[in-house]
Amino acid sequence: MAKITYKHPDGTETVVDVPAPNTVMRGAKINNIVGIEAQCGGSAQCGTCHVYVDETCGVALPEMHEDEDEVLYGTASPRRDSSRLSCQLRITDDALDGLVVHLPERQS
Ligand code: FES
Repeated sequence: MAKITYKHPDGTETVVDVPAPNTVMRGAKINNIVGIEAQCGGSAQCGTCHVYVDETCGVALPEMHEDEDEVLYGTASPRRDSSRLSCQLRITDDALDGLVVHLPERQS
């Protein structure tokens, strides 16, 4: 289980507990959080689950794979150093507990 904070473009935030082995993308979908489209269903192909990780939260992230890196160059909102695909951020045991992500203005 991990507590994940989703910060919306309007400044509001939603905090939810997401059980393993869900991803940060799936955590948004099962909690009806608007702002992550996830058109490919989590296979790192569409880029519509793009998030900006809040680097001040201090949570260690899994290494970025080559496929994720390539897809992040085609996202609707600009790629930043903090960009990740939320479908590639998987919760395992306590990993990602306390993660804070900012949702981009648009996904497609
Ligand atoms: S859901 Fe499509 S890239 Fe993450």
